Amino acid sequence: MRIDVVSIFPEYLAPLELSLIGKARQDGLLELNVHDLRDFTTDRHRTVDDTPYGGGAGMVMKPEPWAQALAAVAAATPDSAEAGPAAAGSGPAKPVLIVPSPAGERFTQAAAQELAGEDRLVFACGRYEGIDERVMEWAAEHFTVRPMSLGDYVLNGGEVAVLAMVEAIGRLLPGVVGNPESLVEESHSDGLLEYPVYTKPSSWRDRDVPAVLLSGNHGKIAQWRRHEQYRRTAERRPDLLEEFDAAKLPRADRTAFADLGYDVVDGHLSRRADAGGDSA
Ligand code: ADE
Repeated sequence: MRIDVVSIFPEYLAPLELSLIGKARQDGLLELNVHDLRDFTTDRHRTVDDTPYGGGAGMVMKPEPWAQALAAVAAATPDSAEAGPAAAGSGPAKPVLIVPSPAGERFTQAAAQELAGEDRLVFACGRYEGIDERVMEWAAEHFTVRPMSLGDYVLNGGEVAVLAMVEAIGRLLPGVVGNPESLVEESHSDGLLEYPVYTKPSSWRDRDVPAVLLSGNHGKIAQWRRHEQYRRTAERRPDLLEEFDAAKLPRADRTAFADLGYDVVDGHLSRRADAGGDSA
């Protein structure tokens, strides 16, 4: 995969040289280029922003430097240009242009999974009040444009969001995480939160590791872990259970959900009206 990031603060992306993502770059599993938007300006002051039409607070990013930068990035050829699914048939697919924004669609594990299957991603980091909207319309000719939000809060710009998204996507690329098993049993991979984990010593400051984990009974351990996932998800993220496919749950799991105040109705979990707690 090739990733390009365009930003007025290229130094912000320096952490992508570290740890697993840095190693993936060194190993040639991921090609990542960071571009300074100001290199695509033409005036002496390297201006990237201007006042908003219609008035209001703050500044808006000017369209032309973005068009210049994105056109240059779109024209660049990845080091790993040959085959790949996108190159088959009617020529290479358009790169995906991800525009981090609190006004975007939610970036989820499912989105990370989907984007990890692309050959080329480009991230456009907006600052100030955002990028002139006409850039998105123009860019749609060259890219599949996807404004994406990390969550319902406002950051100062797209860079921190890009750090998070590139890490979430990059770790799903083949060979990046040493043991691919660890990608299977983690929060959100199956629509649930992960079960709690423990290591040695088995007793620490008067607190014991749950006995089942020391039993050697792998069936019982797997069941305990699943039930802990249900308990945690019900407690912390009951919204996730609305999407959970409960049609094929074994009887013991239905009982576990019943204990948490949920019945299975038409293959979905339904919170009993008389269930305690404050989760809706
Ligand atoms: N830029 C500013 N806030 C953001 C958010 N919540 N997600 C993604 N990009 C952003």
